[in-house]
Amino acid sequence: MAWLAELYPWTKALHIISVIAWMAGLLYLPRLFVYHCGAGPGSAQAETFKTMERRLLRGIMNPAMAATYVFGIALLLTPGLVEWSRGWIYLKLILVAVLTVYHHALARWRKRFAADQNAKSARFYRFMNEVPTLIMIGIVILVVVRPF
Ligand code: HEM
Repeated sequence: MAWLAELYPWTKALHIISVIAWMAGLLYLPRLFVYHCGAGPGSAQAETFKTMERRLLRGIMNPAMAATYVFGIALLLTPGLVEWSRGWIYLKLILVAVLTVYHHALARWRKRFAADQNAKSARFYRFMNEVPTLIMIGIVILVVVRPF
């Protein structure tokens, strides 16, 4: 795995680029759901939202999540990078797992919208919109400050 040490600056750059693309989707998709709630089922506007939601999830969020994992795991395997006796990395990985569960919840809700079967309110999606922001703040503090 010594070759990973040489590639480290590139792996980290690609990790951060993937994280930004994934976060953009995690923040934008629930916002689209908020607006979608206000469009009548079967309306032209609702059909446009369905297309936007499908493209955002499949074209950006799924590949960005996969890339975040690939480059994140490459960083984990880079020699001398993570001190496994410290706690921050474990909490970071738990928060990443929560973000992944949230991603799959968004995918489930998108399918319900696509079938005109959404049962949740705009208020619910507005509240859900705050979840990735809070987790992202936690992750960035953990990886940069490494408080424990
Ligand atoms: C499978 C998922 C992930 C894994 C395995 C992972 C792992 C890692 C590792 C090992 C590092 C290297 C730390 C170092 O440079 O010493 C890192 C850096 C970083 N990660 Fe992740 N990560 C993942 C997902 C995320 C997510 C979801 C975010 C943000 C929401 C994130 C934000 C960052 C940032 C900002 C850095 C750079 C920190 C620095 O400048 O040192 N990561 N990641």
